[in-house]
Parts: sequence; structure tokens; C-alpha cells
Amino acid sequence: METSVNQQVRERLRAVGLSEFGSVDTWLELLHEFGFNDEQRHELPQEVWTARGMGLRIWQYPNQFAPYMAWLCSQASSIGSYLEIGTRHGGTFITHVETLRRLNPGFDRAVAVDLMEQPAVLAPYEYRQQDSQSAGFLDWVGGQTFDLVFIDGDHSYAAVRRDAESTFARCNIQVLHDITSDICPGVGTYWREYKQQNGVTHDFQEFTDQYESVNGSFLGIGVARRRDWIE
Ligand SMILES: C[S@@+](CC[C@H](N)C(=O)[O-])C[C@H]1O[C@@H](n2cnc3c(N)ncnc32)[C@H](O)[C@@H]1O
Repeated sequence: METSVNQQVRERLRAVGLSEFGSVDTWLELLHEFGFNDEQRHELPQEVWTARGMGLRIWQYPNQFAPYMAWLCSQASSIGSYLEIGTRHGGTFITHVETLRRLNPGFDRAVAVDLMEQPAVLAPYEYRQQDSQSAGFLDWVGGQTFDLVFIDGDHSYAAVRRDAESTFARCNIQVLHDITSDICPGVGTYWREYKQQNGVTHDFQEFTDQYESVNGSFLGIGVARRRDWIE
């Protein structure tokens, strides 16, 4: 069942002109309207205080996620499917899915995975309440192809590596979240290894800007795009 939040997001995205999706300023505006998470308050910059704990509760920094989304929109016509491991309140997931649906009529599959019980805002979507480290998940994901995979579940080195390896072979764009976080340095360690190992087949981008109003380095988005897109 749709909630009013789902509807509002979809209607808001429908009101955005197609040429505006590549603009970072458009995304900064949209993300503030959609709302940010309010957990781990010491990570939160003053810039998001007016929108914290509201709406989609997206667990991102606007100065990282807005340029990432602007870039992602340039790839949207090729992205037909999306998997997010670790969806929490669903904010990042819904932002991806509704944007890709808006931009690509061929976008036809999205799956959210988390240990948590399915939040109400994720009710209209395919949801797996499952441990991505489990044999059951590995069995399931091994047979799936996703154009875009966003990894944001268990943030230990071993777990991120396992999530990346289990989805790598059949995915075109793989995204690792928290590559510059003081809280989970294992993600950054793995990301550096990942770039070394896959430099021949993939191009990389990083969205890691920080805020002066925050003490420390947090979040950070690492993107690996396969040069030879697999169908
Ligand atoms: C940082 S939150 C995700 C935030 C979300 N991607 C966003 O940007 O709004 C991490 C989530 O990963 C989930 N998680 C942790 N370990 C997991 C695992 N082994 N399998 C699936 N989900 C996991 C947690 O329950 C939590 O909801």
C-alpha cells in the first residue's frame, strides 16, 4: 500500500523537468524536501537540521548525495534494475527507485534488503527481510542481474567485501556507502583494494565532501562503473 510520503515523492519528481535532473542544485532542493535521517546525531551537519527526522529520512549528506544523484541521472537510460543492501527507513532506496522510474520507462525491478521488518514506506516495493551474509541470500542473489547495486548493510570489512563480491559479476554499477567514515574504516580499506583490483574493467568516482560544522569524516559514496556494460 502507498503511504502519503510515497505519493508526495512521486508527485514531486513528476514536477521536475527532465533536463533538471542533472543539476546538483535541483537535487539539493529535492533532498531537503524529502528529509534526512536523525540517527548518529554527531554526524549531522547544521545544513540538514531543518529536515532531520522528517519524510524519507535519507541517511546521506546532501553535499555527497546531490552530486551523486545528478551523475546517476545521466546513466538512467541504461539502468533497468536496482538492488539496495541495507535500506533502513527506505529513504535512499525510494529516491533511487522513483527517480529511475521517472527517467526510464524500461526500469522494471527494484529490491530492498534489510534485517529489519519492512517499514510502511517500503510496502509498495519488493522487500527481503534477510541477512545479506547468509547462505540463503547468496543463493538468491547468485541468480540475479542488477544494473545498479547500492551496498550499505553491515559495515565491517569482511561483510562489505562479501556483499560486493556476491553481487559483482552481474552488476554494471556498484556503489559502496561509507567509504570515508571514521565509524567504519573497514569500508574505506576495502574500497581502496577494490579500486586496485578492478581498475582494468571499471571507472571510479567518489562523492566524499564533508562539512566544516561536523567534527570528523563521515559517509562517502564510492561508485564503480563497468566499462563494458553487461546485458
Ligand atoms: C546505514 S543503514 C542504511 C541506510 C540506508 N541505505 C539509507 O541510505 O537511508 C544500515 C542498514 O543495514 C542493515 N544491515 C546491517 N547488517 C545487515 C545484513 N547483514 N544484511 C542486511 N541488512 C543489514 C541495518 O539493519 C541497517 O538498517
